[in-house]
Amino acid sequence: MQTVDIRSLLKDHSLFKEEAFINGNWIQSKNTFLVNNPATDEMIANVANLGTQDAELAITAAEKALPAWRSKLAKERAQIMRKWFDLILENTQDLAKLMTLEQGKPLAEAAGEVVYGTSFVEWFAEEAKRVEGSILGITWSDKRLMVVKQPIDVCVTITPWNFPIAMITRKIAPALTAGCTIVIQPAELTPLSALALAELAKRAGIPDGVINIVTADANQSIAIGKTLCASPTVRHLSFTGSTEVGRILMEQCTPTVKKLALELGGHAPFIVFEDADIDAAVSGAMESKFRNSGQTCVCANRFYVHKKVQDVFVEKFAKALSVIKVGDGIQTGITQGPLIETAALKKVKKHVADALGKGATLVSGGKRTVECKNFYEPTILANVNSEMLITYEETFGPGAPIIPVESDEEVIKLANNSQFGLASYFLSRDIGRVWKVAEALEYGMVGVNTGLISNEVAPFGGIKQAGLGRDGSVYGMDE
Ligand code: SIN
Repeated sequence: MQTVDIRSLLKDHSLFKEEAFINGNWIQSKNTFLVNNPATDEMIANVANLGTQDAELAITAAEKALPAWRSKLAKERAQIMRKWFDLILENTQDLAKLMTLEQGKPLAEAAGEVVYGTSFVEWFAEEAKRVEGSILGITWSDKRLMVVKQPIDVCVTITPWNFPIAMITRKIAPALTAGCTIVIQPAELTPLSALALAELAKRAGIPDGVINIVTADANQSIAIGKTLCASPTVRHLSFTGSTEVGRILMEQCTPTVKKLALELGGHAPFIVFEDADIDAAVSGAMESKFRNSGQTCVCANRFYVHKKVQDVFVEKFAKALSVIKVGDGIQTGITQGPLIETAALKKVKKHVADALGKGATLVSGGKRTVECKNFYEPTILANVNSEMLITYEETFGPGAPIIPVESDEEVIKLANNSQFGLASYFLSRDIGRVWKVAEALEYGMVGVNTGLISNEVAPFGGIKQAGLGRDGSVYGMDE
C-alpha cells in the first residue's frame, strides 16, 4: 500500500523508480518490498525485491559490458562521467526530496549531500586522465621494468542508508573512471536515491551493463550478498557499514580471494584541550555530532573536555543546541530529522538511560520528541565516565557525552581505547601539541580544529577494526 504520491512532489517524475536496474533495463519483479518514510511512518514506495538469480544476471551484465568500457580512452570515460555530474547537479532538488523522504535528513542537508556526492564524480572524472604507471630503477643493463595500472574489472559495492547518494558515488566514481563495471546493492531502507542516480547515469550515456543496481529487502539482501561475494567474476568488493557485517563479508570473499575496501564502525573521540578556541570547539562539535542526526560513522561519539574549560564548553554547547529544530525534514526550517528506524532510537535511549543510571548529569534533551516515534532530542550528558556504554559502543544518534579530563597522556590513552579507529577530532592552539596529538591518535583520520573532515580530495578510511583501504582521493583510485 503506497500512501504518498512521490511523483507529484518531483519536477522530473521519471526520477522515481521502483524497478531494479540491470544491463540498462528497468527490471520489475513479482516480489516487492515497501520503503518507509522514517519521519511519518508512511509507505512511500514498493520496490523490486530481487533474488540471487537476478544478482547473477547483474554480474553477467557487468562482465559483458567490461571489454568495451575498459577499452575506451580515459578521456572518453571522463567526458561521460562529467555529463553524469552535470545531470546529478541539475536535478539536486528532486534528488534531495527523494532522499529526505526515504532517509529523513532535512531537505537542505539532503541537497548538501547531493553536492557532496557529485564532488566524487567530478573529481574522479578529472583524475581519469592522470592514472599513471611508472618506470622503475634499472636492475639489469639490458632490461627495463614498467608498472602499468589497469582496472580490476567487475566490482561490487554494498552501500549504507545514511548517505544514500554520496556513499554510492564515492565508491563507484573511481571504479567507473578506471574502466571497471559495477553491481551496486543499495541499503534496503534507501533504494530510491540509488535508482534515480542510475536513471541519470543512463541519460548521461554510461553504457548498458556498466552500472547495475540490485534492490532487495533485508532477507534477500543477505542471500544476494552471498552470491556477489561468492562470484569468481567479481574481483573487488567495497562496503560501508558495521564492523560486524564487514567481518561476514570478508569471510564470504575469502574463497575467491577478492580485494576488499571496508569502511566500518567508528567511535570518534572529540578532544577539547584547555588552550582550544571554545567557540570553534562548539561549532566543530555541532557539525560533527549532529550531522545526519548523529548517524554517520565519523560522528563524534565521546567528548573529552579539559576540566579547566568544561563548564564554559558545556554552557556554550547547550546554548548552541537551541537552534536545532527537530521534525519532518521535508518541512521548511527543520534542521534535524528522525532516526532511521525505531531500533536506532531504542539504542540512543539505552545509551542515555545507562549513562544517567550510572551517575551522568543530563544537560539538555534526553528524550523522544512527541511528533513521531523516530525523533530524539539533541542531547548533552555531563560527568560521563568510561564505565558507561556510550563511551565504548557506537551510538549512531544525537547523544553527546562529556568526559572531564586533565593531562594529555590521560586523554590520548582514553581516546585510543577503541577498536574503531576511523575518525577523531581535537582542538588546540598549541602547535607542538597539535603535531604530538595528531600523530598519537590511532585513527585513520584526524580533524584538527574542525568537526568536518570529509571531502573528495582527502582519503577516507580507518585503521584497526574500522576497516581496510581508502575511499575518495588518489588513494581511492588505487583501491
Ligand atoms: C559515513 O558515515 O560512512 C560517511 C560519512 C562521510 O562521508 O562523511
